[in-house]
Amino acid sequence: MAIFKLTVNGKEQQVDVDADTPLLWVLRDSLGLTGTKYACGIAQCGACTVHLNDVAVRSCMLPVSAVKAPVTTIEGLSENGDHPVQLAWDEVDVPQCGYCQAGQIMTAAALLKKKPHPSAEEIANTMHGNICRCGAYHRIREAVTLASTKM
Ligand code: FES
Ligand code: FES
Repeated sequence: MAIFKLTVNGKEQQVDVDADTPLLWVLRDSLGLTGTKYACGIAQCGACTVHLNDVAVRSCMLPVSAVKAPVTTIEGLSENGDHPVQLAWDEVDVPQCGYCQAGQIMTAAALLKKKPHPSAEEIANTMHGNICRCGAYHRIREAVTLASTKM
């Protein structure tokens, strides 16, 4: 075990964990930020997506010792759930079971941060790696498109 200092959602945090502990478990178990979900655990589904310096990363295979930039989770994306992507998600009524949704929203938010008005193809290519077992893909793409008009 060792002490690691992280900035998560704008707050300095200190955790005492093994160096190879995935960031996902630090967020969920050490810091109680359970909005970020565990699904495949092998960086294949996107459920655990968070931002490192505004870039989408999969936290399930990222050792805490490798985290050198500020982390943003779904809890820190906006103050009141009013990020353009969250507003669009509500308007389109995207979720079914909801399990994949935090990862979808974080992936979409990172895309729109980098490119506020992406093409349909860019949206499809970016969101392609986030699996939704409920098959809400059409509404996900619709919501990202709508959010891009609010950026
Ligand atoms: S749980 Fe991390 S990508 Fe699936
Ligand atoms: S809404 Fe159920 S897995 Fe995506």
